Amino acid sequence: MIITIGSQKGGAGKSTVAINMALMIASSSKDYHVALVDTDKQGSCIQTLHNNERENLNLYEVQNKPNRLIQELKEDIIIIDTPPHSHEVMHLSAAVSDVVIIPIQPSPLDIRAARETVKALEVIVAEVNPRLQCRFLLNRLKAGTILAKEIRETILRLYPFGILETSLFDRQAYKQSLITGQSVLEFDKNSMASKEMAGLVVEILNLMA
Ligand SMILES: Nc1ncnc2c1ncn2[C@@H]1O[C@H](COP(=O)(O)OP(=O)(O)O)[C@@H](O)[C@H]1O
Ligand SMILES: [Mg+2]
Repeated sequence: MIITIGSQKGGAGKSTVAINMALMIASSSKDYHVALVDTDKQGSCIQTLHNNERENLNLYEVQNKPNRLIQELKEDIIIIDTPPHSHEVMHLSAAVSDVVIIPIQPSPLDIRAARETVKALEVIVAEVNPRLQCRFLLNRLKAGTILAKEIRETILRLYPFGILETSLFDRQAYKQSLITGQSVLEFDKNSMASKEMAGLVVEILNLMA
């Protein structure tokens, strides 16, 4: 299964989601071989994990023509972190993926800014990869607001892609855990962050079931 984490917007949470998913799937079973492909020259995944590798998690770094590398990979689960503002990298990754996850923060400006990403993905689905599933992921929700419901309705009204049921809240654990290159689960397995991230992993893997 090949999963691209994509959004043309910087700061949406792509790298946070990519790193946590890769670590959590790899730690869930030694039988699962996971590839985490960093296509962003900022190198968030590589820098966070390079001293902290796991037996069944392989890290790759590629900026040009990522589709060539991705198609050669043999791991069971391949997670691709993509840069903002590069249609080409997202296009080439999504073209060879099963699923694209689009993290989005619950604000009108971020929702409007998603138009560019959606348009690019629509072209890929129409012209290159009709089986591609694209889903929004609400990220950095604030606890105790009713905004989430309105945000969901707005996204569904504007765009043709569904929204994952699991949302991620704005939590310190997502920042603290990455200081030491840990997933939120390794950092504190009883935290709300690790529960929601575990739910996210299950929901995404189930898209292919
Ligand atoms: N759910 C969250 N809760 C708290 N902070 C978050 C969350 N998701 C992302 N962040 C923070 O937001 C910033 C941008 O996240 P990042 O994953 O680098 O986004 P992107 O890769 O899309 O540019 C980082 O400082 C990260 O720690
Ligand atoms: Mg990033």
